[in-house]
Amino acid sequence: MEDDPVFRTDLYRGTAGDYDRFRIGYPPSLFDDLLTLAEVGGRGRALDLACGTGQISFALQARFDEVWAVDQEPDMVACVRAKAAAASVSNVVAVAAAAEELVAPEGAFELVAIGNAFHRLPRRAVAARALRWLAPDRCLALLWGGSPWRGAAPWQRAMDDTMARWSAMVRDRTRVPPTYERVRSARPDLAILEEAGFTLLGTLRASLDHAWTCEELIGFVYSTSVLSRLVLGDLAGPFEDDLARSLLACEPSGVFAQEITFAAEVARTPVHDQAT
Ligand SMILES: C[S@@+](CC[C@H](N)C(=O)[O-])C[C@H]1O[C@@H](n2cnc3c(N)ncnc32)[C@H](O)[C@@H]1O
Repeated sequence: MEDDPVFRTDLYRGTAGDYDRFRIGYPPSLFDDLLTLAEVGGRGRALDLACGTGQISFALQARFDEVWAVDQEPDMVACVRAKAAAASVSNVVAVAAAAEELVAPEGAFELVAIGNAFHRLPRRAVAARALRWLAPDRCLALLWGGSPWRGAAPWQRAMDDTMARWSAMVRDRTRVPPTYERVRSARPDLAILEEAGFTLLGTLRASLDHAWTCEELIGFVYSTSVLSRLVLGDLAGPFEDDLARSLLACEPSGVFAQEITFAAEVARTPVHDQAT
């Protein structure tokens, strides 16, 4: 069995500001449905692994005694800390650690959530650890979604094409290892969870309507690991001009409407404590 590729540990360097400003949060109804399905909420600890700027942590913090927000990139962790301080939120604990190296007690969490990030992690190692970190009969959720270019509208196709063109132009082969797609399709995320000992409960879905502006769409692109401001460097200006021109050619109003879709794939740990 081929191992997951190893990604660079600084893929998101410099993106925290754009990430926090331009990513649209997961819909509250997705969390409501998740907590209902997972039969948790109100107390205990949740773990937001690969938390970025804390989209999941801050959405969940009122529903748990404590949320651990864990990310390996210092900018992301600093952003979570700053947001928690600014909002006087004291129960979001920001931890700088790789998901596969986090030290946490066994059975300590009522819920583990991984948002838009499982594909970047050493999945088997993280699934095995999450199984141990969770209490018996508790859930791991893989959250996904929010990308503006996913859809059939002409502006979305134009955005996808423009991003593909610029990604090819600035491609840094150390950012997406060549085996990434092959390994992930040979061994899908849910198969990894099942092999680790989780039982799959199903996929929750939610959507929300959003009208993007050009500035927001450009900012979203800067929040990605493949076309961040750092990756584009001096080409950021020409990239912005190109993307804005492509978008406005499809939608001269400058309003880009989308029903943004999100999902949570949910899996449960065995009822009996793994340690017995
Ligand atoms: C696309 S962002 C997702 C952020 C957030 N979870 C969300 O739902 O919006 C991916 C995040 O995963 C983090 N990450 C990637 N590999 C990681 C690892 N091995 N351990 C911890 N964090 C990791 C990155 O630093 C980045 O903040």
